[in-house]
This record gives sequence, C-alpha cells and structure tokens, in this order.
Amino acid sequence: MSGAVSMLKPAAKNPATSPELIDALVSSVQAKRAQALELLKAAVAEFPAITFANSYGAEDMVLTDLIAKEQLPIEIFSLDTGRLPAETYTLMADVENTYTIKPMVFFPRHEAVENYVRTQGINAFYESIELRKACCHMRKVEPLQRALSGKQAWITGMRAEQATTRSNLPTREYDAGNKLEKFNPLSDWTEKEVWAYIRMYSVPYNDLHDQFYPSIGCAPCTRAVAMGEDIRAGRWWWEDPTNKECGLHVKK
Ligand code: ADX
Ligand code: SF4
Repeated sequence: MSGAVSMLKPAAKNPATSPELIDALVSSVQAKRAQALELLKAAVAEFPAITFANSYGAEDMVLTDLIAKEQLPIEIFSLDTGRLPAETYTLMADVENTYTIKPMVFFPRHEAVENYVRTQGINAFYESIELRKACCHMRKVEPLQRALSGKQAWITGMRAEQATTRSNLPTREYDAGNKLEKFNPLSDWTEKEVWAYIRMYSVPYNDLHDQFYPSIGCAPCTRAVAMGEDIRAGRWWWEDPTNKECGLHVKK
C-alpha cells in the first residue's frame, strides 16, 4: 500500500470510532429519547395549553423531530427577530417540507423596531449592553410574552452544559418571570448525544452548524467559534461570558 493511502486509512484502534463506543452512544440516545418523550407526554397531560419555543438550533431540531414524529399535541412557535441568518430561514422551509407541522411565527412590534432604528441606529446593539438588551427585549422578549400568553407551560431546548448560567438547569421548573411551568427535556443531554440523534433520525439542521457555528441566534450577534472555544463563545462575543443571556431565560 502506498504511503498516501495508508495515511488515509483510519487507525484500527481509534477509540472514538470503536463499535462499543458507538453502541453505547446509540443506546444512550435511545434511552434519553424515551425519557424526553415520557416527560413531554406527562407535560401535555398536565398542561394541555403547552407550547414549544423553537429557535431551529440543533437541540430544538431534536425536539421538533420528536414532537412531529410522535404526533404530540404541542404547539410550536418561533420568534423571528427580523435579523436571523438566511440559513435559518432555509431550515424553516425545510422543516415545513419534511414534517406535517406548521410552526407559528411571532414578529417584533413594527413601531418598536422603527423607533429603535430611527433613534439608535440599525446596528446600535454593538454600542452598549443597554442598547443590546433593549434590542433583545424588543425583538425577542416582548414577542415571547405574546407567544406565551394564555399558555400553562412552555418547552425549551436548553441544556445544562451549554453555559455557566444554565449549569443547574432542571428538566422542569416554575418560570416565575413568565408565570408558567417550563420544561427543558434535553437538560442532561450532551452535545454529542444531540448530534447522534440528528444523524440517527435523519433530522434536518442549520447549514451553519457545519461552518463552526455550534450556537445560532441573530446573524449580527453570532459568529463562528475557533477550535477549543466554548460552544456559546460566538454569541454576543464582545460581552462578559458569565452573563450572556438575551432575556428569554432570566431567573426571577
Ligand atoms: S438564547 O437565550 O441565548 O437566545 P439559545 O439560543 O441558547 O437562547 O436557545 C435556548 C432556547 O431558547 C432554545 O432551545 C429555544 O427553546 C429558545 N429560543 C431561543 N431563541 C428562540 C427563537 N428565536 N424562537 C423561539 N425560541 C427560541
Ligand atoms: Fe438584537 Fe442581536 Fe438581540 Fe438579535 S441577538 S435581538 S440582533 S441584540
């Protein structure tokens, strides 16, 4: 065998591709899928007015797939901030073509956006934390309040591992800020398990994930991460990492 070909051949004993490890990963994803399904079914039974917040990130695609394939009676909504990356809109269309579900979309109030842009500027969120938070409030938090109005519970795709602000994330909690129950069925999932699920169940996902964007939000506030960087390092990268939340998930 020539040197070049032998270099391309995977090492026979590479532990990352050993069959036992892959079997273990498949089993853990299957077990966690069953647990998440059980939690979602119990949540719907207790809170019929329940809704799932779908940002179209990898975790949310796992939940979208689960809800759609299991035909759970759970409404799905997303917050279209008006500043999402083109790839996210492509995925939204893909989801409509792949599944029989029709997620609802909530937009910001146009008067608020017009006023902010006129008085502060189109990209004013880079100028100060206050202006960044005001933008997130107008484009995400206020529309979220409308999406949750009249609901008894909501579901997110958050995971404990994602950030220091989420390290004690339970699968179920009372959301005092929004005054309703909140479920985080993937709270104990690893990133590896999320991606194994996506491959195992052929779930569509955002093209940006293949371009080093592990976490995706609005286009101007998300960048790719470098090797070894934290998975949320590309979100509001100019801010202090210990307090990088947009206001959707604040504890009261
Ligand atoms: S964020 O607070 O920093 O923006 P992140 O992107 O990690 O949150 O997403 C955490 C969860 O918040 C998602 O799994 C989803 O449930 C919800 N979420 C975030 N952005 C949106 C959005 N644009 N539309 C609907 N839900 C969202
Ligand atoms: Fe505005 Fe950026 Fe927040 Fe999106 S993430 S709402 S563009 S500040």
